[in-house]
Order: sequence, then C-alpha cells, then structure tokens
Amino acid sequence: MKPAEDLSHNRIEEAVKHPKNLGELEGADAVGTVGSEDCGDMLRMWVKFKEVDGKRVIDKATFQTFGCGTAIAVASVATELISGKTVEEALTMSGEDLSAPLGSLPPLKIHCAQLVEEALRSALAPNAQASEQKNVAPTLLQRMQSPTQEKKKIILGPSK
Ligand code: FES
Repeated sequence: MKPAEDLSHNRIEEAVKHPKNLGELEGADAVGTVGSEDCGDMLRMWVKFKEVDGKRVIDKATFQTFGCGTAIAVASVATELISGKTVEEALTMSGEDLSAPLGSLPPLKIHCAQLVEEALRSALAPNAQASEQKNVAPTLLQRMQSPTQEKKKIILGPSK
C-alpha cells in the first residue's frame, strides 16, 4: 500500500470505529435516502436547520447506512463538514470535498463518497422536506425489505 493510501486507510478505520453523527436526528427538517446500484448499499441522511444572522444554515446532520466502512467514514466526516453551511454552500460540495478529511480514497471506493454526496443532495432537495418527513419515511430496514426492492441473486461458485 502506498503511504497516501495507508494514511487514508487509517483515517477510515478510525472514523468507522468512532463514527460521528450516527443515527436518526430528532426534530430533523429534512431527510434523504439513496441506494447504490453498484453495491446495493444504502445511506440515509437527516438534516436540521437553524437561523444565524438571518441565514438558514445546517445546524446538524446525521446518517444511517447499510454501507461499507468507507461510506460510514465519509458520512461521518461529511456530517461534520456541512455543519454551519447554507444549503447552497453544501450543494457545491462534491464527494471528493466531503471525503477530503480522509485523504484520497482508492479508486474502488470513490463511489462510496458519491453515495454520501447523493444522500446529502436528496436531503437538501426542496421536495425532500415535504415528501420525506422524519416520521413518515420508512426505516432503512423497511425499505430494504420492501417488495419493490430488486432481489439479489446469489450465485455460488465451485468450491475450491
Ligand atoms: Fe458501496 Fe462502499 S462499497 S458504498
């Protein structure tokens, strides 16, 4: 492993061991849920706003995920990074920006950061606040078990 990848790996491990802002956010103003077709992982983000000097800014954001360690780590640092930002400012952030504190991610893990970016965009979309209120939104588990979810086919390979 190259030193930069090693550093990123250590930061991801640390964030997975001690994730920040994990769980449903009481009194959230908006929630967004996305799933990645690539890996079947899902991520939900809650956002709560407050007024500061006449500006509406993100007070707090939290997340839940059926995702890999990298998705957990990126969501953890991203929820900290967007705190205090306006919706417009938060929407300018790419997956790369949101995962920056972890260092550069290995190519295979870039989509994990994109999953976090998409969940954030979903939560900050104007209709997220009206259509997916906290108590109406199904839990991630309910969503995974929904009959509309595409079933995964598991093919076992020959034993070695
Ligand atoms: Fe899919 Fe990380 S492997 S979110």
